[in-house]
Amino acid sequence: MSVKVLVIHGPNLNLLGLREPEVYGSITLEEINQRLRAHAADKGIELRTFQSNHEGAIIEAIHQAVGWADGLVINPGAYTHYSYAIRDAIAAVGLPAVEVHLSNVQAREDFRHLSVISPVCLGQIAGFGWHSYVLGLEALRVKLAKN
Ligand code: DQA
Repeated sequence: MSVKVLVIHGPNLNLLGLREPEVYGSITLEEINQRLRAHAADKGIELRTFQSNHEGAIIEAIHQAVGWADGLVINPGAYTHYSYAIRDAIAAVGLPAVEVHLSNVQAREDFRHLSVISPVCLGQIAGFGWHSYVLGLEALRVKLAKN
């Protein structure tokens, strides 16, 4: 049976390609999703992707993942730094999750150094541009295969 993963992209990530390319790269969200789909096909992962600029919609996507997904890869965008509600949703559903960021959040402004999401995740991958997502997906796959 193949591993099923939901990838969640948070606010402003729909603007990738246009948005601060010196920080986030010039790749679009659709191109990231294509690279994730290629990796998933190669590794036998079933993949769904979701993007929203709304906290409640992200929370509902996390709830609805139950019963389908084996795990989550999530870039919560700026919600990383203050959304207790998204953190609680991940904890509530109990799905293993990997937090990913395009940029190295630790090397940026102080407010980006804190993630309220990390404590309910298996781990965080940050600073590798779009590769962070593929690395996050692969980390989750390996972890699920060992369990
Ligand atoms: C981000 C980092 C966040 O601090 C920022 O608010 C984002 C993108 C990243 O992928 O590097 O929206 O999550």
